[in-house]
Amino acid sequence: MTKVPMARPSSRRAFLKGGLAGAAAVAASAGAARAGGETVITEVQDWARYPGDGVDARPYGRPSPFEAHVVRKNVPWLTSDTISSVNFTPLHELDGIITPNGLCFERHHAGIAELDPAAYRLMVHGLVEKPLVFTLADLKRFPRENRIYFLECAANSGMEWRGAQLNGCQFTHGMVHCVMYTGVRLRHILEEAGVRPDGKWLLAEGADASAMTRSIPMEKALDDCMVAFAMNGEALRPEQGYPARLVVPGWEGNMWVKWLRRLEVGDQPWHHREETSKYTDLLASGKARRFTWVMDVKSVITSPSPQAPIRHGKGRMVLTGLAWSGNGRIERVDVSLDGGRNWKTARIDGPSLPMALHRFYYEFDWDGSDLYLQSRAIDEKGLVQPTKDQLRAARGPNSIYHNNGIQTWHVDKEGVVENVEIS
Ligand code: MTE
Ligand code: CO
Repeated sequence: MTKVPMARPSSRRAFLKGGLAGAAAVAASAGAARAGGETVITEVQDWARYPGDGVDARPYGRPSPFEAHVVRKNVPWLTSDTISSVNFTPLHELDGIITPNGLCFERHHAGIAELDPAAYRLMVHGLVEKPLVFTLADLKRFPRENRIYFLECAANSGMEWRGAQLNGCQFTHGMVHCVMYTGVRLRHILEEAGVRPDGKWLLAEGADASAMTRSIPMEKALDDCMVAFAMNGEALRPEQGYPARLVVPGWEGNMWVKWLRRLEVGDQPWHHREETSKYTDLLASGKARRFTWVMDVKSVITSPSPQAPIRHGKGRMVLTGLAWSGNGRIERVDVSLDGGRNWKTARIDGPSLPMALHRFYYEFDWDGSDLYLQSRAIDEKGLVQPTKDQLRAARGPNSIYHNNGIQTWHVDKEGVVENVEIS
């Protein structure tokens, strides 16, 4: 039998229009479809008329072409050149707590290093009994663990410090992702080398051209840090540090060194670029906060949001968003429809894991009036997400990093959503 394309462009467009109208009609009332002359459910469609692709057509599966708009995006004025760059996770299009591998935001300071796993080596040296060099195969012979963690860049929401700037949670909050890592505890690797009693700090270095280096206190290194080689069940993507990266649960993304090549044990921090001129917070007093490792309790409503306006009119409404904390689990998420005057408790659904994204929902009937949507997360240590004004009062006007302030989305009567600030 000859192969027939699954849907010709013309009929595909027709489906898209008909499909959306159909869904809206069902939501409104079952009878509306008949009254409107809807035929998408009564007529045989192309996908039922012709056989589709066989199993050899897609050896590595891809999302439906109708989802082609669900992609990482960058903000051109933030990307100074092609190698020092950042793009953002399309949070407004995702659900649940796991970020698909191909949609995890990327931040790299010297482009994507393409490492040959056969030539991968991890060196451990410094204040150790036995300096060692591991191959990837060596690393995989330590006991493996699977852990779900969020990774957030300390600069996430950094552009919002001085006011509402970017219209979409992808851009205001999209420097976060959450995947299941498979890897080995850093502790096993360090124990094999034998950390000397004066070894209190660890320097992690990447193999990329930026030679990203960060100092990590030994206590954290021996606690929950991992060297991961898989994410969501498959090998790390090159963008995320293939073949191995450091996982530093709950701490700022910059410390999660990708393409990890060297671990040096020392007796004090190194004060490299990324922990002095960068990733420190200059206060109004002229002093700077340093070693602000933990990513504070934070949340954002992902839908409705500027890139996900309300298209269905008033009535039954599902609001959803994400919450996370570098201190552990999320205890509760509150949602306000009126800019923080009244709060209701949202429903957290799905796993509630320490230092992982949490998914929350809040269902309500929208009466079609203006909304000022906010979410406020509270973590297991009782820390409450602050307002942006509270943050500014505490940190002054110079900050870039660690903005965990409450976000406000204004929804107008048409369902159009905009990034605003209310004080
Ligand atoms: N590691 C190396 N080797 N090179 C880098 O440029 N960027 C860091 C960190 N690790 C970086 C790196 C920064 S600033 C962040 S936020 C995270 O990686 C981003 O991880 P991702 O690209 O998996 O989202
Ligand atoms: Co970063």
